[in-house]
Amino acid sequence: MNIRQIIEKGAIELKINGIEMPKTKARMLIQFILNKPRQYIIVNDQKNLEKETEETYFKCIDMLKQGMPIEHITHQKEFMKLNFYVDENVLIPRQDTEILVEEVIDIAKKMKAKKILDLCTGSGAIAVSLAKYIDNCEVTALDISPKALEIAKLNAKNNEVENKITFIESDIFGNLPLEKYDIIVSNPPYIKKEIIKTLNKDVQREPRIALDGGDDGLDFYRKIIKESYEYLKFKGYLCLEIGYDQKKDVIQLINQEDKYINTYSKKDLFGNDRIVVTLLGI
Ligand SMILES: C[S@@+](CC[C@H](N)C(=O)[O-])C[C@H]1O[C@@H](n2cnc3c(N)ncnc32)[C@H](O)[C@@H]1O
Repeated sequence: MNIRQIIEKGAIELKINGIEMPKTKARMLIQFILNKPRQYIIVNDQKNLEKETEETYFKCIDMLKQGMPIEHITHQKEFMKLNFYVDENVLIPRQDTEILVEEVIDIAKKMKAKKILDLCTGSGAIAVSLAKYIDNCEVTALDISPKALEIAKLNAKNNEVENKITFIESDIFGNLPLEKYDIIVSNPPYIKKEIIKTLNKDVQREPRIALDGGDDGLDFYRKIIKESYEYLKFKGYLCLEIGYDQKKDVIQLINQEDKYINTYSKKDLFGNDRIVVTLLGI
């Protein structure tokens, strides 16, 4: 079988098993197994493959058919043009979250932020990107999961920002020393408990602790919005990723606190509400 044929066969198997983006995944898989860039696959699509390569490929196709995310096979995910190691202990960073990171970078540059806190850091996608793209800024990355923190540390090292990030194992603010930050950013778990079992097979393979936002999906927003003011400098920013249908509820939680001003939201590339930003004003 040549490269073109194996991609076609792999894609058909994925498609009939209801896997999304079958052709892309079938191509990414052979790229990964051959350890070659996309360009090589395009130029050499008539190249015959060894039996062993074919066997490995179809073993991986079987894993994908069972709902394993491709990133759990390749252990790679690009985010903010940086490479991140991922496995089953962390949420695979989403492109949607780049909107949040870009907004925080803009704010940080305008206010010359010196200290940023990333709550619920997971793979470190947000913390590492901020450390990479903002000069003269210390980042604190916090997560309840020690395994996630190990991965975040590895990603900081691989992206050469380990000296700019402090890692803290903590249940939200529980173990965090009382310090003041210019910006607190978070992409917390925000899926309603009941919805999780209806999500795609590959999302269900991600750590439940990274998804479960409680009965109404708002548990983490409640805590973060209530307690952030103690950790924010005056006129410091709280920047949150939200689910597409959570804008009204999250803004209501912010307004209930009577401490924040100038709240705004932004949409993602698909037109869905994706972030809410507010300012500690009182
Ligand atoms: C939605 S993931 C976000 C990961 C990463 N920030 C990103 O955007 O890709 C949420 C993260 O929150 C962490 N988490 C869950 N409960 C937590 C808690 N009580 N305190 C701190 N972190 C928590 C999970 O371990 C997970 O890494």
